[in-house]
Amino acid sequence: MENQWENFLSPYKQAVEELKVKLRGIRSQFELTEVHSPIEFVTGRVKPIASIMDKAKRKGIPLNQINEEMQDIAGMRIMCQFVDDIHHVVQMLRDRNDMEVLEERDYIAHTKDSGYRSFHIVTRYPVQGMEGEEKILVEIQIRTLAMNFWATIEHSLNYKYSGNIPEEIKNRLHRASEAAYQLDEEMSQIRGEIQEAQVIFSRKKDTE
Ligand code: GTP
Ligand code: MG
Repeated sequence: MENQWENFLSPYKQAVEELKVKLRGIRSQFELTEVHSPIEFVTGRVKPIASIMDKAKRKGIPLNQINEEMQDIAGMRIMCQFVDDIHHVVQMLRDRNDMEVLEERDYIAHTKDSGYRSFHIVTRYPVQGMEGEEKILVEIQIRTLAMNFWATIEHSLNYKYSGNIPEEIKNRLHRASEAAYQLDEEMSQIRGEIQEAQVIFSRKKDTE
């Protein structure tokens, strides 16, 4: 049983590791230039077996269909400094020829009721394995640092309260989500100045 899971999850692990290298590589390339990197940092994980089983049960997905019906067994997150960077990253992902974008969910244009904002992409990604190519689903979440901060806190509160966050805290989270939105807005507006400062700073570092 344990071994079956390991076999099933192995291409997902492979995909997550590959995509971490590939997406971090883009960041490194930007670092070689003085062009602002739309990617701040990248994380990836394979969903733990217990969470896969929980979600399958909750959503009524038969275990033999999770490869097609559960889109986030392999999950990547790309964090950006600015909201505009997200659209840049999304376009870069659409343009790649090592993955096929199947779905886009724009929770930035359409904020969730919880206050959650992020851009989600579901892709089909080919992994070359022992028995040839296997295409698996990978969910990529693209968000700003502010959106990530909010989502991380909200996620831990949901965990703490088993999904039933008290009304008072929900209201606070809503206000925090609005504050995160304001922060993103302000940062976009002063972006030009920030970029200028960053270029000067990296020049200064070079000469030190
Ligand atoms: P899932 O059953 O979670 O896959 O929902 P879905 O199929 O409707 O997809 P959706 O795009 O709504 O959410 C996928 C993922 O986005 C979740 O697993 C979370 O990582 C993240 N997410 C979505 N909504 C929220 C939210 O309200 N708060 C936080 N913290 N994360 C969220
Ligand atoms: Mg989903």
